[in-house]
Amino acid sequence: MTKINKAACIGGGVIGGGWIARFLLAGIDVDVYDPHPEATRIVGEVLANAEKAYAMLTGAPLPPRGRLTFRDTLEAAVDGADWIQESVPERLDLKRKVLTQIDAAARSDALIGSSTSGLLPTDLQRDMRHPERLFVAHPYNPVYLLPLVEIVGGEKTSAATIQAAMKRLPPIGMKGVHIAKEIEAFVGDRLLEALWREALWLIKDDICTVETLDDVIRYSFGLRWAQMGLFQTYRIAGGEAGMRHFLAQFGPALQWNWTKLMDVVDLDDALVEKIGQQSDEQADGLSIRELERIRDENLVGILQSLKGSHGGKGWGAGKLLKEFEQHLWAGGGAKQALDLTKPLRLIDTKVSPAWVDYNGHMTEHRYLQVFGDTSDALLRLIGVDLAYVERGHSYYTVETHIRHIGEARLGQAIHSTCQIVGADEKRLHVFHALHDSASGDIIATAEQMLLHVDAKAGKAAAAPEEVLSKLEPIAAAHAALAMPEGAGRHVGQKR
Ligand SMILES: NC(=O)c1ccc[n+]([C@@H]2O[C@H](COP(=O)([O-])OP(=O)(O)OC[C@H]3O[C@@H](n4cnc5c(N)ncnc54)[C@H](O)[C@@H]3O)[C@@H](O)[C@H]2O)c1
Repeated sequence: MTKINKAACIGGGVIGGGWIARFLLAGIDVDVYDPHPEATRIVGEVLANAEKAYAMLTGAPLPPRGRLTFRDTLEAAVDGADWIQESVPERLDLKRKVLTQIDAAARSDALIGSSTSGLLPTDLQRDMRHPERLFVAHPYNPVYLLPLVEIVGGEKTSAATIQAAMKRLPPIGMKGVHIAKEIEAFVGDRLLEALWREALWLIKDDICTVETLDDVIRYSFGLRWAQMGLFQTYRIAGGEAGMRHFLAQFGPALQWNWTKLMDVVDLDDALVEKIGQQSDEQADGLSIRELERIRDENLVGILQSLKGSHGGKGWGAGKLLKEFEQHLWAGGGAKQALDLTKPLRLIDTKVSPAWVDYNGHMTEHRYLQVFGDTSDALLRLIGVDLAYVERGHSYYTVETHIRHIGEARLGQAIHSTCQIVGADEKRLHVFHALHDSASGDIIATAEQMLLHVDAKAGKAAAAPEEVLSKLEPIAAAHAALAMPEGAGRHVGQKR
């Protein structure tokens, strides 16, 4: 993966702030220029939301946060940056002016992305000296959680720029899609605009309220879209005959009066007021910040569900999250300094919204997930990573005993520790504890036996020297520790 070394963000509003958080949390230093007198506060608030969301999103080790610096001039901000993201208001004259300034001050090989929602890159790059490095990098709000970036080149954008931009997105957890031809509003906003026009008509004509319209989306096709998009959803809707049958069945409806799409509603004062009032009622007193938090919790939950889908391989945005976590583990996990004088602290996370049950406590099976992640983290430390598993060997868990001692609640910071209580060439006997990070108190423990296996032969086999040589020093150091309280218990023993 190709990493961005230093980013510059020009404009730190809703979208610029989201980009700043995305870069910083991926360990990249960011210099910011935004003349708004409250830019520092606004960016700080977005960053705080992003940090909360990431703590719930992943237990993988995030790199140390990048350094955030606000600069007094655009020139100072872009100095030395290899990715510059322009996120100033959506006005062609302003964007051209800002891009020309960036062009004059930036490194000649810097990549320059514009967050524009719909302006053509050819129009944006018109006055640039090095127009070949300008492209549209259109993200979605909140940029720190939604992974998509539409990458669109203009007439003068070079193929090398597009390639380089696409390569730099996976290490920050994002997915670039290259839009083959430039068109106003690209792909995402064209679709949203069509839906938006139709929605405005439905409200204006009193067919439904804004709340009913949102319910229609979020209780139905909104759920489908998040995981399969449009065409694959319709393929399934065609039944066993698939897409062709679907087209035959619903094709004729295209000629019927099912859309007012080209007929643009007059967004007059009365309609603005009507939508404003209905939207206030729908919000039911929740502030924008509260709604943002709820949105982020929901998105984290959805991403995590998708990560576990498709037999654990992950699906769509969840598969991307899984790949991002593997990248984080490969970077941070390995570099972690090991203190062998106590149990290894392997997972630091927060109880995510997807992990809690109806009374706000962490659901039973999530304990096993955290302990499973703890074992996986230990295995990575001794060289049993994805590549090792793909070569045909692994450790399988053959026994687990979990004790529930305290409670883990939504948003609570937790961490897990692991003590090796026994190891030989085939067996790995571990004792994990889940702690409340604030007090250090133990919330739960898990004792597990793992067996080294030859997966192809389907039987236990001695671990090779490359693994044992990493395992033995940890096991030897842990042999000097006291046996953890509760080790060796079985179900039904009195406390
Ligand atoms: N809001 C969204 O959902 C969304 C989604 C994707 C893309 N975009 C695009 O992102 C861009 C920014 O939109 P936003 O919603 O963040 O707007 P915003 O108004 O929240 O932020 C714009 C920021 O740019 C700053 N600014 C103004 N002039 C500047 C200059 N000369 N130099 C540096 N900073 C300057 C402003 O002070 C402000 O903080 C637009 O092109 C928009 O179309 C927005």
